[in-house]
Amino acid sequence: MKALITSGGKGTRLQPITHTENKHLIPIANKPILHYAIEAVAEAGITEVGIVVNADNDAVQKAIGDGSRWGVNITYIPQEAPLGLAHVVKISQDFIGGEPFIFYLGDNMVVGGVKRFIQRFQEDGCNCHLTLARVPDPSRFGVPELKGDRIVSIEEKPRRPKSQFAVAGIYIYDHHIFEAVNAIRPSGRGELEISDAHQYLLDHGYVVTYSEITGWWKDTGKPDDLLEANRLVLENLSPRVEGEVDSRSTLAGKVILEKGARVENSHIRGPAIIGSGTVIRDSYIGPYTSIDRDCLVEASEVEFSIIMAGCRIQQVGIRIESSILANDVEIVRARNKPRTHRFILGRSSRLEIV
Ligand code: G1P
Repeated sequence: MKALITSGGKGTRLQPITHTENKHLIPIANKPILHYAIEAVAEAGITEVGIVVNADNDAVQKAIGDGSRWGVNITYIPQEAPLGLAHVVKISQDFIGGEPFIFYLGDNMVVGGVKRFIQRFQEDGCNCHLTLARVPDPSRFGVPELKGDRIVSIEEKPRRPKSQFAVAGIYIYDHHIFEAVNAIRPSGRGELEISDAHQYLLDHGYVVTYSEITGWWKDTGKPDDLLEANRLVLENLSPRVEGEVDSRSTLAGKVILEKGARVENSHIRGPAIIGSGTVIRDSYIGPYTSIDRDCLVEASEVEFSIIMAGCRIQQVGIRIESSILANDVEIVRARNKPRTHRFILGRSSRLEIV
């Protein structure tokens, strides 16, 4: 069994963060989203991993490397243009060869790993094993129509979904998927849709089975999904304090303080993670907050937020909440007169003030 993981695409729903950061490298609990996918396939015993990357930059290669730190061999497969998930499979045929493989969308996060799905694929002796998750808004996803315990059809982003399920971005295939991705035609939005490849398998009598994901699963396509994934991951981490905490500070609940982090005269209420080299001074950090390395939070309050590396938050009068700051962002109090708000913001930035 091999693994194929996506890391391309433009991440338009996460702009402006994705103007500068690849969405798969956005940290969840201070760890890039893509790490979770690699960890999941490595834990399932897979050693040959293909990662499909945007052909026009090497951010993912630089951040992930050759895979040795997870005990896997990574092969990078460049995709020239975002022509759809079935196109991703199509261009990976040489890498996969004739073996079965797990296709894992690198922006999906699932608790409990993928071993159980691989086992089901093997037990079922099927051609394709899908994972389904019950969601409140199926029309954002590929949606199966079920009869009894069988999938009878699959539609991509249907206006009228035929079930409450989304097809999650974790799929297991045998080599027949290549027949499907080579036969289908681009959809209305000009992409080779993975749902059309699944429908092809159903139409041609191949065996498609599924598992229901009963724990949590997230497609981290939108800012709120990132915050929610961050919340869920932080909730499941074990506390660990390797940084310094002075006698005027308190840590409550699950707090991870990385080595080299410093907390001075502050209160941290977990679940929260503070990265190495970060200083929290005269501040309050509330639940479900990740603050990455080399940040400074001074005389401020931050809660339910993702703060990436190198940010500076100083003397902000009102609690910062439900916020995502990309690397090296600064939110500071103006010192000079006149006392005005001054903004230097990139395209698609969003600022809510009170
Ligand atoms: C893609 C697939 C969709 C699937 C979803 C899961 O959608 O096309 O079938 O349900 O991933 O994350 P996208 O997120 O690219 O819109």
